[in-house]
Amino acid sequence: MTELLVPHPRFITLEGGEGAGKSTALAAVREALQSSGYEVVRTREPGGTPLAEKIRGLLLENRPSAGGSEALVPETELLLMFAARAQHVREVIRPALQRGAYVVCDRFTDSSYAYQGAGRGLDQSWIEDLERRAVGLRPGLTLLLDLDVRQGRARTRGRDLWPDRIESEQDDFFERVRECFRLRAAADPGRFRLIDATRPAAVVASEVGAVVSEWLRHAG
Ligand SMILES: Nc1ncnc2c1ncn2[C@@H]1O[C@H](COP(=O)(O)OP(=O)(O)O)[C@@H](O)[C@H]1O
Ligand SMILES: [Mg+2]
Repeated sequence: MTELLVPHPRFITLEGGEGAGKSTALAAVREALQSSGYEVVRTREPGGTPLAEKIRGLLLENRPSAGGSEALVPETELLLMFAARAQHVREVIRPALQRGAYVVCDRFTDSSYAYQGAGRGLDQSWIEDLERRAVGLRPGLTLLLDLDVRQGRARTRGRDLWPDRIESEQDDFFERVRECFRLRAAADPGRFRLIDATRPAAVVASEVGAVVSEWLRHAG
């Protein structure tokens, strides 16, 4: 049976390209929520459960699997992303929401539209179907950290001595990813907040905190 896509006000996601500052912003989101007294569960995708983290390993491993030159094809990449997500939603996200916690997740389904859809060229309606059937849940609030692709790369250069499989893509791939994120944000202003991530980290963090406080005034 097809599940409905229900946006949950206590489910907050961070999206954006490599080096946009998602992990940095996540700390600001958590701080804003905790200072209001809420329990916060922080998690990430792909991953978030022991099994889903194993799938993450398969997805990001930057060499053909042992024993051959077999590369991960786009269709497998998409299905593994959703396999991990189905597990994550049922084992971690929904239980936390049900007991009244806030859940803050570094990447979620929007990243599949951007990377496997716009980036790899897979059909959007297939992703929509997987989102409805395998996930059935949407964040109430999504912070999109928007940054020039080259600027993002420059930020991660120090971190990524060994870039993962997806980070090793070319700039045109990441341009498609960025454009898809921006289009999704423009199409759903009720859920998305577009954050200009070119500014210094402290400025971004304070805007992120303000966005979350504003969200709490309405949804909390
Ligand atoms: N606004 C910012 N300005 C400059 N550098 C930043 C900013 N935000 C994060 N960084 C730095 O850029 C790198 C990538 O940030 P990170 O939060 O890990 O990005 P992401 O999780 O989106 O890949 C880190 O070294 C971080 O300290
Ligand atoms: Mg990160």
